[in-house]
Amino acid sequence: MKRAIRVLLAILLCSETFAQENLIHNVYSRASTSLNGNWHYIIDPYETGYRNHRNWIPFDVKDYGKASAKPYWTNKKMENSSDRIEYDFDKSPTLSVPGDWNHQKDELLYYEGTVWYKTSFDYDLPANKRLFLYFGAANYETVAYLNGEKIGLHQGGFDPFNFEITDKVKTTGNFLVVRVDNRREKERVPNLTTDWWNYGGITRDVKLVELPKNFVLDYHIQLDRSDPSMIRGYVQLDGPSIGAQTVTLSIPEIRQENSFTTDANGYVEISLPAKKIKRWYPERPKLYDVTISTGEEQVEDRIGFRTIETRGEDILLNGKSIFLRGISLHEEVPQRMGRAYSGDDARMLLGWARALNCNFVRLAHYPHNEHMPRVADEMGLLLWEEIPVYWGIDYENPVAYNQAVNQLTSLVHRDKNRASVVVWSMANETPETEARLEFLKKLRETALSIDPNRLISAALERDETPGKKEMVIPDPFAQYVDLVSCNEYVGWYGTLPEECSEVTWNIDFNKPFFISEFGGGALYNYHGDKLDRWTEEYQEYLYKEQIKMLRKVSPLRGMTPWILVDFRSPRRNLPEIQDGWNRKGLLSDRGFKKKAFYVLKSFYDEMEKKYAYKIDD
Ligand code: GCU
Repeated sequence: MKRAIRVLLAILLCSETFAQENLIHNVYSRASTSLNGNWHYIIDPYETGYRNHRNWIPFDVKDYGKASAKPYWTNKKMENSSDRIEYDFDKSPTLSVPGDWNHQKDELLYYEGTVWYKTSFDYDLPANKRLFLYFGAANYETVAYLNGEKIGLHQGGFDPFNFEITDKVKTTGNFLVVRVDNRREKERVPNLTTDWWNYGGITRDVKLVELPKNFVLDYHIQLDRSDPSMIRGYVQLDGPSIGAQTVTLSIPEIRQENSFTTDANGYVEISLPAKKIKRWYPERPKLYDVTISTGEEQVEDRIGFRTIETRGEDILLNGKSIFLRGISLHEEVPQRMGRAYSGDDARMLLGWARALNCNFVRLAHYPHNEHMPRVADEMGLLLWEEIPVYWGIDYENPVAYNQAVNQLTSLVHRDKNRASVVVWSMANETPETEARLEFLKKLRETALSIDPNRLISAALERDETPGKKEMVIPDPFAQYVDLVSCNEYVGWYGTLPEECSEVTWNIDFNKPFFISEFGGGALYNYHGDKLDRWTEEYQEYLYKEQIKMLRKVSPLRGMTPWILVDFRSPRRNLPEIQDGWNRKGLLSDRGFKKKAFYVLKSFYDEMEKKYAYKIDD
């Protein structure tokens, strides 16, 4: 027990998070200028761009002028024929931003290291405005320099961040240099090994966001789960004079317009009656135009209102018992063989889930881009979102904890107003140590402190004693989650599909039970006998046997089989079958359906009827 206290103290001592300061909520509805496009880049495995090559320490500011020290962020140019400068961004090749570098250049396919990016822009900023540089995400560490001056550093590969540049931007000739490194390191999250491609670079949108001096930094507007007759939340302003400001919240469709006054810190709690609200359902994804107005700004959003809770073994959406007909999904567009990042990518990937008759998608194993929950809101898909606390994180290291809590804080803040998001997952297949338990308990508290209205889960640990036919979940974190979830590969890893018929599940938590992964690999259009590994027939047989087994598990209220689409992994190297791809997709890497797709769809058609409910408002 003493050890757990030591670990908890270590985490507490470092638990002040360096969460992204002033993360602007709902950037997509603000006045902005896109910086997406072709940026020059320099590959820099030896950190030549900012380190003295002899003693491997960063250049000292006093040395900048010297021949040896011309950091890349200064974007130096030859001023006379005798100058020696050993780089030139404007003569260097370009990468598309957004976009991981791996799929764009053969020499970067497996690259794990530093790449420097550079772009230029003019900006005529009105005197009464502020300007922020916003990144949807960049993997993994990002340092940004504007006109030769460092403007910010961010760690974390899948969460948004922004830096204020109001006092640094020039009307013409700005040059922005950005250093990104995607190295896997012990205290990072994820760290040394994953079963997905370590895509590096500026992987999502980059924008210049123009805001008034006093602007709406953040807001939370949701049905109160404990009192669903009311919409409750808060608005937080940012700026030099944000106290005693009038904030008006309007939802025209229900003829609601209520004004509130901020406190000295620019914060105000809001509430308004929700009697006339039509609830959001997958079958009827009703969204309302919501406007938050201050004297200087109007922020528009489209918000769905619903409740999600558990009662015993049932999951209740607006009080109706549901079955989560799900599928897992990586953030990857297979045809582009790279990270997904756009609204069109989201509509394609979620459209494939809809074709499977899903009402639920697990966005594995990290926060996906913001288009995904926004498109899911519109399409009527429920979401499980998670941070990459995956496998062997350094659970005793406060640095690793800060990485995880920062990513979770950004994710929950970013998506807390999205009706589609119903589950925050804290971890995936993590070792049952005291340090890990304390780590996850703290993460859970963080998620609930920001948003108490959603379900907490994690892919918990099963008793994996070889040959054991009774499945149990001894994981101590099970007592802290709302949805008891686990991954299982009966019939794929270590066994054959017929073993499903010998397995029983001893699950008795008086909570809903959920299978967050099952599945097996198949190469599209590779056919044979149902016991020929990698054939579509094997995968089809496995799904049939899995579904037969899972039908008998009475607390089961959903599943997200692994996985919708084949995806890239450096761990999957069977020639002619895998070739760097994990083949557990129900769709191939070109989007073609395998036979198992239809087995799962048929089961989901049945579960849709079994759990049908009437929308009574
Ligand atoms: C694990 C893990 C996945 C991985 C899958 C597999 O359960 O959570 O990230 O891809 O198994 O082995 O394919």
